Amino acid sequence: MNSVLLHCRPGFEGEVCAEIADQAARLEVPGYAKSKPNSAHAEFVCHDPAGAARLMQGLRFSRLIFPRQWARGSYLQLPENDRISVLLQALADYPVCGSLWLEVFDSNEGKELSNFCKKFEAPLRKALTGAGRLVEDASKPRLLLTFKSGREVFLGLAEANNSALWPMGIPRLKFPREAPSRSTLKLEEAWHTFIPREQWETRLSDEMTGVDLGASPGGWTYQLVRRGMLVTAIDNGPMAESLMDTGLVTHLMVDGFTWKPKQPVDWMVCDIVEKPARTASMVEEWIGGGHCREAVVNLKLPMKQRYAEVCKLLLRLEEAFAARRIRVSIACKQLYHDREEVTCHLRRL
Ligand SMILES: C[S@@+](CC[C@H](N)C(=O)[O-])C[C@H]1O[C@@H](n2cnc3c(N)ncnc32)[C@H](O)[C@@H]1O
Repeated sequence: MNSVLLHCRPGFEGEVCAEIADQAARLEVPGYAKSKPNSAHAEFVCHDPAGAARLMQGLRFSRLIFPRQWARGSYLQLPENDRISVLLQALADYPVCGSLWLEVFDSNEGKELSNFCKKFEAPLRKALTGAGRLVEDASKPRLLLTFKSGREVFLGLAEANNSALWPMGIPRLKFPREAPSRSTLKLEEAWHTFIPREQWETRLSDEMTGVDLGASPGGWTYQLVRRGMLVTAIDNGPMAESLMDTGLVTHLMVDGFTWKPKQPVDWMVCDIVEKPARTASMVEEWIGGGHCREAVVNLKLPMKQRYAEVCKLLLRLEEAFAARRIRVSIACKQLYHDREEVTCHLRRL
């Protein structure tokens, strides 16, 4: 069980390799990262048998930027018939697990396999439960079976509280019909990702105020309004009438990069397509200058050196807040709804 398998958005395998190799070097876990272009996954092969467990224990999944899901384990070849017996035999070396997810990669091959997984899941679950290999217990590791084909599966383990919130890291969020744009799901996913559910009542409350920079037509404003907030929406473009009719939105046609509120607000969100360094300086001013307490901003990625560029900007933010002598938690993730971008969450502590 000496590999860590990492799922990602197709096209970002190189970023995942760079990131996991960087983290492994920091934790002194010897090994190497490998991937194939557009395969939607990468693998970190550890030289020591205990390396994969040590790597995952030393990292918080939520702090990784590009991986959508991860698991430690190894590949197993499967026969065409009676795959369950072969799986049961291989899993005899694994601990008893507390939950089971069947996964595929986010690639065309993966999509073709999802039907197979749907059919296979119930009989497998029954067999594992019957053999005492699966009990319902969140404190036990989750068994993650990632099918590469009907003949090859990665038998993986991950702690339920230190891995993706959803199978394959893909949230199944329902598009709200009244929302003016599909990007509304991006902000909803950001909240699920960065704010524990039990804190939504206090951190996303109807007593709060928010600013949405680059708001038109209003997908992100819709999420703030849905939580009952009073919102200032900044954009030269029009806002959906349905949002203006709520009476909760003030629309200002001004430049989002220079405008600041007269009174501090609770939230600032920004979905303007801009150079990432400019967006990072802007959020540093908002949080550092006390204009908002929390922020969610999109950082567009450059064509090359995407991991290195994100790290550079995050370090610059950390240093700027340290120089201002303020404590700010910074998290950054490539969400499922992100394309050539990552989403950052900042919170003044
Ligand atoms: C990706 S769209 C935002 C979509 C929006 N978040 C939604 O969910 O409907 C980006 C918006 O940023 C606006 N924009 C670009 N530069 C801006 C600036 N300097 N100040 C304010 N808005 C800007 C554009 O007019 C555009 O409407």
